[in-house]
Amino acid sequence: MRKTLLFIAAASLLLQACGRSLSPQDRLTVHDKEIDALIAQMTLEEKVNMLHSKTNMSSAGVERLGIADMNYADGPFGIREEGQPNGFMSAGWTLDSATYFPTGSALAATWSEELAYKYGTGMGKEARLRGKDVILGPAVNIQRLPVGGRTYEYLSEDPVLSAALALSYTEGCQDQGTAVCIKHFAVNNQETNRGSVDAQLDERTLREIYLKPFERAIIEGGAMSVMPAYNKVNGDYCSENEHLLNEILRGEWGFKGFTVSDWGGTHSTMGAMLHGLNVQMTGSNYLGQPVIDSIATGALTEDLVDEKVRQILRVRMAIEAVPSDVANTVMTSRPECQAIAKEVAEKSIVLLKNDGVLPIKADVKKIAVIGQNAVLKTQSGGMGAGVKALYEITPLEGIRKRAGEGVEVSYAPGYKTIAFRWGPAPANLDPLEARSNDEPADPALVAEAVALAKDADLVLFFGGTNKSIETEGSDRKNIDLPCGQNELVKALYAANPNLATVLISGGPTDLQILEPASPAIVQGWWNGTEGGTALAEVLFGDIAPSGKLPFTFPRKLEDSPAFALGNFPDPNGAGGDLFSLMFRPDVIKMSPEERQKFIDSLPKPVSKYTERFYVGYRWFDTREITPMYAFGHGLSYVNFAYGELKAQAAKDAVKVSFTLKNEGTMPADEVVQLYVHRVDAKVEWPEKELKAFQRVSLNAGESKTITLTVPMKELRYWNESKHAWDLEHGKLNILVGSASNDIRTTAEVTI
Ligand code: BGC
Repeated sequence: MRKTLLFIAAASLLLQACGRSLSPQDRLTVHDKEIDALIAQMTLEEKVNMLHSKTNMSSAGVERLGIADMNYADGPFGIREEGQPNGFMSAGWTLDSATYFPTGSALAATWSEELAYKYGTGMGKEARLRGKDVILGPAVNIQRLPVGGRTYEYLSEDPVLSAALALSYTEGCQDQGTAVCIKHFAVNNQETNRGSVDAQLDERTLREIYLKPFERAIIEGGAMSVMPAYNKVNGDYCSENEHLLNEILRGEWGFKGFTVSDWGGTHSTMGAMLHGLNVQMTGSNYLGQPVIDSIATGALTEDLVDEKVRQILRVRMAIEAVPSDVANTVMTSRPECQAIAKEVAEKSIVLLKNDGVLPIKADVKKIAVIGQNAVLKTQSGGMGAGVKALYEITPLEGIRKRAGEGVEVSYAPGYKTIAFRWGPAPANLDPLEARSNDEPADPALVAEAVALAKDADLVLFFGGTNKSIETEGSDRKNIDLPCGQNELVKALYAANPNLATVLISGGPTDLQILEPASPAIVQGWWNGTEGGTALAEVLFGDIAPSGKLPFTFPRKLEDSPAFALGNFPDPNGAGGDLFSLMFRPDVIKMSPEERQKFIDSLPKPVSKYTERFYVGYRWFDTREITPMYAFGHGLSYVNFAYGELKAQAAKDAVKVSFTLKNEGTMPADEVVQLYVHRVDAKVEWPEKELKAFQRVSLNAGESKTITLTVPMKELRYWNESKHAWDLEHGKLNILVGSASNDIRTTAEVTI
């Protein structure tokens, strides 16, 4: 395989030298002749064997011809614990502890392409050490619903931010010789009924919002594989969606790699074969023997099988197989990857509010840390991807270590959540009850916490959700703070108003009650292996906070678009919560066939996207609804001064420049954001849209000239009547600032 790689490199150099530089996707095809020679030697059975799972996390190669199996790893925020061949139960390995990287929304809060690249390299490197070829990630769906179960895995509500980070993650990972499998393609924005829901949306919204992150990672980043989502889009399952897989992905974007269905997300032989799926994960009931039978009857051709095998082999050839005696001989988690996880965590933390409580003052000698989220580990829990982390520094550990000997740090849980891993709930608990966490405050726990607060110089309250509440497989019922946290924080504030709240969650929460009872608020995320260390550095002022929200914190759930328009939950109430249904005692007892029948008998759920492209801040700004905290918001310990904006529109891009000065007394990073507002437009546009951003590091007192470029093609819209991208000429207001609601300098250009 090493020879193969050298051959690919040499071939691409030669082609470039001849003036024909290959696109990232076309680089996958340089080996096609050799691949065809291999296919010619394969039996039909050997070829079809490559189109479905071999084990829960692999698909077959052809040993006889020296073609290695393809090994997959979840993804997206750490190499998942080694599972048994037939499922996710632990294989009991001892060297499979990996680095737990901050989860998706935390990475996105860094607004840093450089860090997303490093994150990708960390994932790619550790995947190789475990013998994995393909990472099931990055997960790049748009955060449409504040309650979304997978908001924490996904990046942002904004397509430009999501796309930039998806691209860098892809490049970083693939530069380490590990393929990405970018997921979930597409419009997988809810967990409720995810296996059957039909997401119904117009083409402009699909193109401008929901496909953008995939488009950039595939065209510019050369993403080698793609995971079609569980849901349907406009009537067809994603794993057999002609429009998504054949017309757009392969046709328009020139994708040359292979697609892998989400686990259990293949639905038919003919649909999958004809409409763009390569590999059924898991099982072979559709892309195994039935393919051979369909060729025998003439319903399918062997040429189609060859084409699918060719697409898989392109990736197999590009990714050197790790010999089995090399894989798993060293611990997966590497110090250099732990350092990346720490840097991402440090730059992800968002200071939402600060009336001067932070950073912690030198005269604070007694700190009361209140709230179970200060000690709960977040590497796994709930359903789905998680990491068996080599280590995880909790917030309390990080604070204790940083505070040192002269400062007394006491702790009280204040509330108790019930966090459990996927599977039957803890003894005597109904699974639904165990996940809801909506019990009122416990008076004894509140009294204990208040006593500590009274006796302290500073109270650090840890609120937020946990991994049972925000989880794959189901959406939250609401965004309320669970377990009586509101009542608790009010009591703490009354006892000691020198209080800062740290929110530990992957998605937004309703802060209407907490906000007036909290002079400072920090969004601390699920922040990886070094999360507690990074948090302590920010709280104590060793570094200035520099994260910015990748999504809107609505004041209340009903303000957000899909809720305001009654699009979610499904107004027809169809389907129910499949995750919970699967744990109903009578359903647990069913045979697989009976269970499938039961699922098929449920009403067919629909999700109408009538809010169209008014997702997140696009909705709030256009409708003039004030959120609790706006998209892009994040404070620092210093002030930044923005100079006058100079903007100029050339043929291919709009370029702007301005000076940015750190007016404070410590080094700090600012994320500058460029939004566009259309003046006198004929086409319908949201009030403003993010078009460029940059993270800038400045020493105390330093200033820099910043230039931002918006390629003209990023200013286009999807013209439904022409079924093509189109540019509306006219005036643009260029708005540059520190958040979507904090614009500091503006200019006008005409395009
Ligand atoms: C998830 C995927 C994941 C796969 C394998 C599915 O339930 O939706 O994101 O990669 O399982 O673990």
